[in-house]
Amino acid sequence: MGSDPSNKPLPSLTIRSHHPDSTREITLESPILNGGMGVGVTGPELAAAITNEGGGGVLTGVALGFPFKDILNKYTDKKPFEANRLALHDWIVTSKEKCNGGFVGVNLMVAVQDFKELALESARSGVDLIVAGAGLPTSLPEVVDKFPDTMIAPIISSVKAARVMVKRWNGKNRPPDAMVYESIHHSGGHQGGNVDEIEAGKHMPEEVLGGVRKLLDDNGLNDVPLISAGGIWDKADIEQHLSWGAQGVQMASRFLLCHETGAEFGGIPTFKKLYMENATETILERSPAGLPGRAVKSPFSSRFAYSKATVEKEPHDCPVACLVSCEKKASIYCIVAHLTEALKNNFEEGLFFAGSNIGKPGISKELLSVKELMNRLRFGEPGLQLNSDRAISATG
Ligand SMILES: Cc1cc2nc3c(=O)[nH]c(=O)nc-3n(C[C@H](O)[C@H](O)[C@H](O)COP(=O)(O)O)c2cc1C
Repeated sequence: MGSDPSNKPLPSLTIRSHHPDSTREITLESPILNGGMGVGVTGPELAAAITNEGGGGVLTGVALGFPFKDILNKYTDKKPFEANRLALHDWIVTSKEKCNGGFVGVNLMVAVQDFKELALESARSGVDLIVAGAGLPTSLPEVVDKFPDTMIAPIISSVKAARVMVKRWNGKNRPPDAMVYESIHHSGGHQGGNVDEIEAGKHMPEEVLGGVRKLLDDNGLNDVPLISAGGIWDKADIEQHLSWGAQGVQMASRFLLCHETGAEFGGIPTFKKLYMENATETILERSPAGLPGRAVKSPFSSRFAYSKATVEKEPHDCPVACLVSCEKKASIYCIVAHLTEALKNNFEEGLFFAGSNIGKPGISKELLSVKELMNRLRFGEPGLQLNSDRAISATG
């Protein structure tokens, strides 16, 4: 970040199905996907706009029933997991319509109870790519086996995790169709590593990307793209990650600053304001998923910060144990409830996940249309540094 991009065009990105009964492949004009942002941040408006601009739009598919009921008053008569499934179907169909049948991906968390049902629903609803993280999605090939054209990609954060996934999925005759590497030092939300590894500087992108590329090539998977996520903000960053061994990038925090983001829930102005004000750093907080979560430092995340030796469990209702690790009422707080508070602009109680670029000085934190952002990612920034007054007023 901050270095000059080249004036060369970015390469395209091809993802193909490795299901024995499929010859499906999709080429994205630009090697840029958005990262799924749960709960509810990456919806159809954003995903379709990214695909329409030549990238790959990815929906979040995690626990959507919650905000659908709470904010949109939809599926209020349905049981929680049924509401999740219907909401996800709804969003996939809407996204496909908005991008004229173009690429639509979905991000799912292995750590939720209804992971398999949501993966099956995604495939049935016609999604092109399932990106699965927050745990290793070892069972995914069987779950979507009847949908050969649905492509699948695990998220890994180390060479070791990549090796496990290649071995497991190759053993099922279904190698990954793409592999997403998320840096534990940079990405927002749940991290695939512990705080000791983060503090010790383990699994840096420059080391892992080359290692995973070699692993894929050594296993004859030269056509499986490696997609790098975490800390990527501009064209120079994209080129750097491609030079380290990636064939594409997955960006989340910068896409949060688009007009289309969170449009379904009123445009999430508080979330965007926190990002643009740049007034606060990110911290690691304790997620009930049993993983560290990187989030904007806020009243809520500070209560559960890793830097605190002890944290008090928060009394909470648990309408449904959405996380596998959640024993009802035993978890320290209800993560879905606090992620939903962020969608509802509740600064005190919202959990605002964010990548490490948030809070860094000197980078453009403008609220842009997807069209403008994709142009900047393809061709470079116009050299404009926005002052924070204008950035804040842009939220309305
Ligand atoms: C608000 C927010 C929510 C996120 N939610 C999820 C999620 O539900 N599942 C997931 O796999 N990754 C999630 N992530 C991680 C992103 O998909 C992405 O890989 C990562 O943030 C990339 O780093 P960047 O934000 O620096 O671009 C989230 C990130 C943010 C900022």
